[in-house]
Amino acid sequence: MFFKIYVDFNFLFEYIKFIKFIYESQMLSNQHSPYIRCPAVRSKFALDHLLGPSVNASSYLLKKITGKEKRERMRNLYTPSDIRQAKIALHGIDQNKPAKLRRPPIIHIRMAKGGTGKSVIAGNVTAALSMLGYKVLAIDGDPQASLTNMLGVDSSLDDIVHIGHLMLAAEDTRKKLDIDSAIKHIYPDGMLDLIPADITLTQTDSWLMSRVGRDSVLDRLIEENLEIFSRYDAIVIDSAPGTTLLSYNFMAACKTILAVVWLDRESLKAINLLVGNVSEINRAYPEKKLDIEIIANGYHPSYSHCKEALAILAEKYKPFLNENVIPHYSGFAKQQSLLIEQSQGPLVEQEPNSIGAKAMFDLSKSLLSRYGITLFGFDENITPLTRKAISGGE
Ligand SMILES: Nc1ncnc2c1ncn2[C@@H]1O[C@H](COP(=O)(O)OP(=O)(O)O)[C@@H](O)[C@H]1O
Ligand SMILES: [Mg+2]
Repeated sequence: MFFKIYVDFNFLFEYIKFIKFIYESQMLSNQHSPYIRCPAVRSKFALDHLLGPSVNASSYLLKKITGKEKRERMRNLYTPSDIRQAKIALHGIDQNKPAKLRRPPIIHIRMAKGGTGKSVIAGNVTAALSMLGYKVLAIDGDPQASLTNMLGVDSSLDDIVHIGHLMLAAEDTRKKLDIDSAIKHIYPDGMLDLIPADITLTQTDSWLMSRVGRDSVLDRLIEENLEIFSRYDAIVIDSAPGTTLLSYNFMAACKTILAVVWLDRESLKAINLLVGNVSEINRAYPEKKLDIEIIANGYHPSYSHCKEALAILAEKYKPFLNENVIPHYSGFAKQQSLLIEQSQGPLVEQEPNSIGAKAMFDLSKSLLSRYGITLFGFDENITPLTRKAISGGE
């Protein structure tokens, strides 16, 4: 009996030591590689797609601004922070101006149906905005963790701190909130950060159930931690299809939902449901004026049902339909390669010149004015689009 207890304790002790070792080695590897990837593009791409047409720059000027003019014989590559630096210089922005604390625009990607391309849009818009020089925080709000995995973070690792954990800690005065411990750095210089998800995010709802003001926990979390959230020019939230308390929190925190519609019959039904949902919220909280921006995804010119679905969508929801229709493109499926274990990043990183990526860059540029996304401290004259709020009658 005594021996048995001894053996068990010994085993427990060894087990704890092993877990501690794994944890410490992971922390160490995180310290040594604070970011996962860094996309870089040639000067022609930077000038034609990322900087143009709002600024008029030459490749010489681009080299000079980014301090690469000495490497004449080598082809220069430009990272998201180089593009940011170039935009700031070309617009004559004073970087020493004290920064205002403000809540960045939130792009909450949502649809009442799965498989419409929400995560594909979330990953590509996040990366594209960053490559355009904007600092972005991606929040994975789906326990399936597609966005987490697409951005290259393994959601099966033990060290995931997700948005549900942060919301719980923010409301519980006994728990110390450390938002930075949740953030994974995807690109260098804070150009793209991620609050990842894992399957345990499903537990958030059962805990939210018992809270007073359960729809606005995330809203309060952001408001009370503006010094962290102000670092970003935009926040992108990917979410699961169902209507959960967590999804209501995302809706309460944002002004405009980005709805992704796959061009088929089921998706058209689901968008009616989502618009109904939005009008319900606006009836209950008239001051909220929740807006919706609709993206048509998966368009293929030789499929007649795509054309029909697009025509119906345009007729019914014209003021809300984004002018950029995302094509059906095989490269989106290749983002999650079965052969390579770790994701190589969204399409805009892997094949920036492809038609799929081009549509994503155009979409992201259109979202700058829709959402009022500005480089911190400049472009301040861009105001988000305002339109009549969706009411109960629509
Ligand atoms: N425009 C597109 N062209 C081709 N395949 C697409 C496109 N958009 C999404 N897909 C594919 O559809 C599937 C579902 O996309 P996903 O973004 O995971 O949907 P959701 O997040 O809405 O559940 C994925 O396999 C993805 O590669
Ligand atoms: Mg998804």
